[in-house]
Amino acid sequence: MPLVLYPGTFDPFTYGHLDVLERTLRLFEEVEVTVAVNTSKDTLFDAEERVALARECAEHLGDGVEVARFRGLLVDRAKERGAVALVRGLRQVSDFDYEFRMAFANRKLAPEVETIFLTPSEEHTFVSSTVVRDVHRWDGDVSKFVPPPVVEAMRRKRAAERG
Ligand code: PNS
Repeated sequence: MPLVLYPGTFDPFTYGHLDVLERTLRLFEEVEVTVAVNTSKDTLFDAEERVALARECAEHLGDGVEVARFRGLLVDRAKERGAVALVRGLRQVSDFDYEFRMAFANRKLAPEVETIFLTPSEEHTFVSSTVVRDVHRWDGDVSKFVPPPVVEAMRRKRAAERG
């Protein structure tokens, strides 16, 4: 059964991510949500929290979804897992430049690993982890953007900051 990776920073996991993950499961029976431990990014949630939240958000999707953290080159992870493709969500034209460059870099590194782009439903095209973190920073309601476990985690983070 071909396995695919759905990689990202997932800081935090959003309804847009869930939408892309559900679409991936319509095409493939096995998906690894690969949570990148990317040292160049300052994240709101640490790697363990991002993995735990992605797991909680995807729990209802069944055994076909695994969530794992990973540090290094994605193509190395794909080879290690025997994954046939990397799935990336493409929301709007502005995503394209970065995604295109990444897909070609990955193809140079590992021509056997394809990149598959999936588009979320229109209602999620504007949802990004960056927007969610910004709304959170200013105490806004994030419940329309992220699943309940993330809403709760953000609420706890806010409460901890207040002391
Ligand atoms: O959700 P994001 O932040 O857009 O995900 C970016 C991610 C983690 C997929 C990307 O930074 C990545 O692939 N990192 C691993 C390092 C790597 O493989 N780099 C080569 C591709 S440019």
